[in-house]
Amino acid sequence: MSDTVNKRKLEHLNIVRDDAMSDRQKFYFDDVHLTHRALPDIDLADVDSSVTFLGKQLSFPMLISSMTGGDHDEIVTINRNLAEAAERTQVAMGVGSQRVMFSEPRARESFQLRDVAPSTVLLANLGAVQLNYGLTHDMCREAISVLDADGLFLHLNPLQEAAQAEGDTNFGDLSDRIADLVKVLEVPVILKEVGAGVSVADLELALRCGIGCVDVAGTGGTSWARIEQQRDFDNVTSDVGAVFQDWGIPTPIALRHLASYRDRVSLIASGGIRNGSDMAKAVVLGASLCGMARPFLAPAAESADAVVRVIETLRQQFRTAMFLLGATRVEQIMGQDALLLDASNGGSRKP
Ligand SMILES: Cc1cc2nc3c(=O)[nH]c(=O)nc-3n(C[C@H](O)[C@H](O)[C@H](O)COP(=O)(O)O)c2cc1C
Repeated sequence: MSDTVNKRKLEHLNIVRDDAMSDRQKFYFDDVHLTHRALPDIDLADVDSSVTFLGKQLSFPMLISSMTGGDHDEIVTINRNLAEAAERTQVAMGVGSQRVMFSEPRARESFQLRDVAPSTVLLANLGAVQLNYGLTHDMCREAISVLDADGLFLHLNPLQEAAQAEGDTNFGDLSDRIADLVKVLEVPVILKEVGAGVSVADLELALRCGIGCVDVAGTGGTSWARIEQQRDFDNVTSDVGAVFQDWGIPTPIALRHLASYRDRVSLIASGGIRNGSDMAKAVVLGASLCGMARPFLAPAAESADAVVRVIETLRQQFRTAMFLLGATRVEQIMGQDALLLDASNGGSRKP
């Protein structure tokens, strides 16, 4: 397994880098319109974009979404640059799946990030389906401990597994395994998709499992069906990847569908968020945090400074959106349906 999991992580990175269409560029947030204020009656300098997440203050509701980890210098560099930038800008960061560290002990280094990110929110990551394939509670604790994580992302990726020739597709009774895990862990468990969205039925199950936070990770940006298809053109499952590359629930639609659950669960939005205006729309639709993955990959391969530049640009855009909505505090826009314009005739942004 070790070789396979580590090799697959590298293949994923290369495909995301080389195949522009693995980002589906659907720009679903372009169909969401907010109520612009011509007379905001506030000073831009007074706009405070900070939020609290898992008891820690963030400079704005930004999460560097889970991407990578493994036994390779490039992967270590990417994670350390992301973590250093997350600390310098006070945003949250998730690491990629830590499954690899159980079969490849040298991969642990890529998840040891507290020396460069001593104070900010760091989130561990494991595939939920692995609970049906031998992942134990102790292994989950180890993944949290190596990162000294504030929480554990358990990812749900049925489409990705179905599009892999070697995929782990037994999701049977997985909610029972998740509920058992939630009961014993000392940190919060956050369920996330990886780019196909979370439905109302999923959220009902999550609540029954005792989950208090869900990342909808919807369709619109990175497509795992597409990435798996690019990995393996010679297999019948490759066709599955091609046909299902746009399958799923677009991120803003997932947020709308889950609106009535906001008082019981915190929602994270990711999947196709590409700028601070998309972020503001996601927050108005009820997200308490906005995640981006793919846009951070190239700057992370370059330097922590390059990642900081991207984050600072996003923060400026997000603060501008707050100003134009007449809000000095994030609570004034979060889940505020009154700020939504009914704009079913919205067009699509051209890449
Ligand atoms: C290169 C890459 C690797 C990823 N690896 C993981 C992973 O290991 N675990 C996970 O939960 N999500 C993973 N994701 C999914 C992201 O965390 C995110 O939910 C999804 O890509 C949507 O965001 P985006 O459109 O901004 O890329 C990965 C995404 C990318 C681009």
